[in-house]
Amino acid sequence: MNVSDSELVESLLKKEGYESINDPDNADVLFVNTCSIREHAEDKVHSLLGRYNLLKKNKPSMIIGVLGCMAQSLKHDILENRPYVDIVLGPDSYRKLPELLNRHEVNKKSQVDTQLSKYEVYDDLFPSRKEGINAWITIMRGCDKFCSFCIVPFTRGRERSRSIDGIVSEVENAVKDGFSEVTLLGQNVNSYNYDGNKFPVLLESLAQVTGLKRLRYTSPHPKDITIGLLDIMNRYDNICNSIHLPLQSGSDRILKRMNRTYTSDHFVNIARSIREILPNAGISTDIIVGFPGESDKDFVETMSVMEEVNFDSAFTFKYSPRKGTKAAEYEDQISEEVKQNRLEQIILLQKSHTILRNQSYIGKIENVLIEKQSKRNSGKWAGRTESNKWVIFDKEHANIKDIVPVLIMKSRDITLHGKIINKAKAA
Ligand code: 5AD
Ligand code: SF4
Repeated sequence: MNVSDSELVESLLKKEGYESINDPDNADVLFVNTCSIREHAEDKVHSLLGRYNLLKKNKPSMIIGVLGCMAQSLKHDILENRPYVDIVLGPDSYRKLPELLNRHEVNKKSQVDTQLSKYEVYDDLFPSRKEGINAWITIMRGCDKFCSFCIVPFTRGRERSRSIDGIVSEVENAVKDGFSEVTLLGQNVNSYNYDGNKFPVLLESLAQVTGLKRLRYTSPHPKDITIGLLDIMNRYDNICNSIHLPLQSGSDRILKRMNRTYTSDHFVNIARSIREILPNAGISTDIIVGFPGESDKDFVETMSVMEEVNFDSAFTFKYSPRKGTKAAEYEDQISEEVKQNRLEQIILLQKSHTILRNQSYIGKIENVLIEKQSKRNSGKWAGRTESNKWVIFDKEHANIKDIVPVLIMKSRDITLHGKIINKAKAA
């Protein structure tokens, strides 16, 4: 989402005559687009800002801006403790950027706008994308779910969706610009609702865009996955059989405390339906360990759900208390030592599942979209399967952006290795 938002900001500034560069030392204006999801993300921003402050000492005219979620949640802290920050701008205020830059030039004072909006979806603004395979397209913003651990509803405000027409024309433009794949983004993509048109309607309209080779989305909420949605994914070849389905915990007691609004049984049933309706589907997840009050029994239940579903991959996190959220107020916080220990256990467990899932591909033929040259071997391509697994294979006569049938021959670590089975076909 931050990459996508940065592309929006870049497009806004380009219209004002700014040019983007990759070298912070030579920049006149430096923006840090920030994330507040865990303390670690914030720590990275603090250290980056410290470095940029040093750059500014050598070049006092440099303007430093903090954008996004941390601007929203930590504006007082930033203004008080980082006087060298000139602009603080929340995720609904990007349109104000040119105005604030001009104002800063005149009065040299810190400019702040962190007003959240019920309506802003930047529908008419097309992001400025670097050439590549995948185009991120934001379809909705904000979140109304209020999971008790999560800062997002506070930093990004209420749910709102872009128009279907706006999204369709952005996808058409992305295809025209040479992108093979589109990934739809939203804090809760399947809460999408524009004039009563829900996510499956949008997905179907986009799957029909001529020339779109691959369509993905992230992240859905397990509560809102419907059989209708899975049927549409099954009906269109260009909608990838891959779902990121955040579990968070496998204990019903903890799920309730997290305000996740589903049970572990419900979750396992959805995973089953996904694998039934979408053959070969890749299922990835997010898991938090050490949520306040998580007992050994709760933790074991999380591992049981992992065993049951056999996720293809997982992002695993230690619970990080976020100021202002309900869970941060709970008294039964878990020690760092226990969190670390549990994290290490689920990382190991997931690794074994990833290996098993990957081995089940050996002997199968997968359609692979070629994305880049393999880092380790210039004679090989690297591409992804529909289910989102990396495959390495000899280049033969195929080219980047081709979709080629690859026979999977072996699986090593998290990567598959194979061989193109017939003449490369540009899909
Ligand atoms: N601590 C740890 N992980 C968190 N996530 C969200 N908030 C927190 C938190 N306070 C994780 C969830 C979510 C992913 C994007 O980040 O697993 O799905
Ligand atoms: Fe955060 Fe929950 Fe909303 Fe996801 S659904 S953004 S975890 S509050």
